[in-house]
Amino acid sequence: MTGGSGFIGRQMVAALTTAGAVVRVVDLQPHPDPAVDIVQGDIVDRDTVDAALDGGFDGIVHLAARTSVLKSIEDPELTHRTNVEGTHRVLEAARAAGVGALAFASTNAVTGPMEEPAITERAALRPLTPYGATKAAAEMMMSAYTAVYGVRCTALRLTNVYGPGMQAKDSIVARLMRAIRLGTTFEIYGDGRQVRDYVHAADVVAAFALALTDERLHGPLVIGSGRSLSVLEVVDEVRRASGAQLSVTHGPAKQGEMPAVIVDPSRAHAAGWRPRYQFTEGVAGVWEEWRTLDVEGAAPLPGGAEISTTADAAT
Ligand SMILES: NC(=O)c1ccc[n+]([C@@H]2O[C@H](COP(=O)([O-])OP(=O)(O)OC[C@H]3O[C@@H](n4cnc5c(N)ncnc54)[C@H](O)[C@@H]3O)[C@@H](O)[C@H]2O)c1
Repeated sequence: MTGGSGFIGRQMVAALTTAGAVVRVVDLQPHPDPAVDIVQGDIVDRDTVDAALDGGFDGIVHLAARTSVLKSIEDPELTHRTNVEGTHRVLEAARAAGVGALAFASTNAVTGPMEEPAITERAALRPLTPYGATKAAAEMMMSAYTAVYGVRCTALRLTNVYGPGMQAKDSIVARLMRAIRLGTTFEIYGDGRQVRDYVHAADVVAAFALALTDERLHGPLVIGSGRSLSVLEVVDEVRRASGAQLSVTHGPAKQGEMPAVIVDPSRAHAAGWRPRYQFTEGVAGVWEEWRTLDVEGAAPLPGGAEISTTADAAT
């Protein structure tokens, strides 16, 4: 698994290990659990990726990426290096090692402004940011590796992922939790009416497990709750879950933000995936964790390995 030390990755490692799989992580960062088998290094580096696949693996979960939309706008080259060159390196190593399946963390930000009532896998790829463009490029490479080399690649187009263990994130749910614990004012980018779909990390993990094991699957798969909320509604939900008086202010809208993200996950439903978490219940669980958290440890990572802008960005 690439990116196994990150927010989604740590939950994916735990789920696969519990299910009895032999897991090896490749990540720039160490994994908090010393029992996890990890090759620490950069996925752009051939020796690192080859070492990660040494011994043979049936499947790869590819999560490692530069995930910040805003940083991709500031420094597109860095984002391209990991998200495109790094993905190419992972695909090449998978091909050489005879890996049968790869499940990739893509995003609905590959599609750009909505042209239909809901985003499906058929939406045209018109990314609005370098981040979205690198994910679209990765999907294109995967299409070719599926067709020519038989590495069955599924691109899970995730919406905004939230859940336990997101203390290092800078996306909306983490920013709201942090504001409550630190007693700071939460800044809403723009008018707060922009809608986003929120999917729980546990549901995302289940989707990756399905993509690895269901041999009928390949290509893009929209993974979201299927219910979108405005930023103002998210603020209300978090106020309700926490019982906190959270003060908010409005700042300028962020560049590259998708005006709306409403997704139709019918293809994933037909494949047998259903989200188990509604936002109200999911966010209550996240608050339970943050309620007692050491807030000093709740600061985003230095350099902010982040997804988002508003409601977090165009993820
Ligand atoms: N969290 C979301 O809302 C969301 C939404 C859509 C898509 N995604 C995608 O899901 C994946 C995981 O997201 P996350 O929220 O867990 O992010 P994260 O930043 O918490 O984790 C990413 C991990 O990748 C590692 N990494 C980054 N560059 C690397 C490199 N060059 N070589 C090796 N490791 C590297 C990081 O150290 C980190 O541990 C990413 O590909 C992201 O683009 C996330």
